[in-house]
Amino acid sequence: MSRYDISQSRRGLLRLGLLSGVSAALPPMLRAADGRVITKAIPSTGERIPVIGIGTNRFGRTPYDDVRSILKRMYELGGTVIDTAALYGNSEVQIGKALEELGVTQRMFIATKLNRPGAPPGFPPGPGRRLFGDGVGGRESFERSMQRLHKVDLLFVHFIYSVESMMPLVMELKKQGRVRYIGITSIRPPEYPRLLEYMRRYPLDFVQVNYSLGDRTAEAEILPLAVKRRMAVMAAVPLGGGRNLLLDQVGDRKLPPWAADLGITSWSQFFLKYVVSHPAVTCAIPGASKLAHLEDNEAAGHGRLPDAEVRRKMEEFWGGKA
Ligand SMILES: NC(=O)c1ccc[n+]([C@@H]2O[C@H](COP(=O)([O-])OP(=O)(O)OC[C@H]3O[C@@H](n4cnc5c(N)ncnc54)[C@H](OP(=O)(O)O)[C@@H]3O)[C@@H](O)[C@H]2O)c1
Repeated sequence: MSRYDISQSRRGLLRLGLLSGVSAALPPMLRAADGRVITKAIPSTGERIPVIGIGTNRFGRTPYDDVRSILKRMYELGGTVIDTAALYGNSEVQIGKALEELGVTQRMFIATKLNRPGAPPGFPPGPGRRLFGDGVGGRESFERSMQRLHKVDLLFVHFIYSVESMMPLVMELKKQGRVRYIGITSIRPPEYPRLLEYMRRYPLDFVQVNYSLGDRTAEAEILPLAVKRRMAVMAAVPLGGGRNLLLDQVGDRKLPPWAADLGITSWSQFFLKYVVSHPAVTCAIPGASKLAHLEDNEAAGHGRLPDAEVRRKMEEFWGGKA
């Protein structure tokens, strides 16, 4: 049986009073699709969330008006999943403010990541240590995230090296009902053996890992174990991210004609439909700090997803280029 479903975004649009003239308000790629949002269930509870969310590690340096417009549009289009982190500069602050102004905080599914004070053990002294934050970690980091975001649905331990020290706190916060879901993030395949160990040891609801047509390492062990342990998978960097951005590798290459059967009208939708159609993947969080990118990505969360056979075709097609 299919693990994904489609639900009308009509309710969301009604809430914002946007239903009249909605078709004109939709970008062409969403008008071409059918306006319905594909959702999947979080295995530990059955709660359904849209397969396409947003990653916000650039929201710390994105102008506030852009952040607000992007989140407003995302909600209009039926998206609810937002991934941020205590460490993403001003990202939590801007998201919390925008959602409050829009009056949709309680409608969104907000994930953030707990920081641990200080750099990883053995990390050399120098300016690189700033990457690990301003010294605020643990409970203080969580309370600050709550103040900024007003609610946290899903709390991740951000770094694999801090799992053992942070997991008691994260489990306590879930027990107290302060967060509904807990998890661990790791986007570095060399860390996956340790992540696998933690997935066996702790009662996690989610893992967040690197998964895209540019890096399918997670398919070997992480995704099968997630299914076995009934954990949701949030796919980070689903477009390859940073220096591996798949969109930079496309060049003047045309989409295959059969992509149109899935309603795919852009390369970004091609990459994202591939990611979220893996049966173990619950949702993906493409980073988008431009409205047009958000609209393009949201379209991948509508219409149909590829089945196993089409997924193989996508791998062969993209693999032929790599
Ligand atoms: N757990 C961790 O340690 C960890 C580490 C890294 C990332 N993450 C999470 O994963 C999220 C995504 O990662 P990421 O942003 O680095 O990589 P990504 O989602 O693979 O790629 C984002 C890049 O693609 C561009 N883009 C997005 N949609 C596009 C479209 N439709 N057309 C053209 N370009 C498009 C974005 O540009 P614009 O910004 O200009 O729109 C940005 O440069 C992060 O925001 C974060 O939430 C987690």
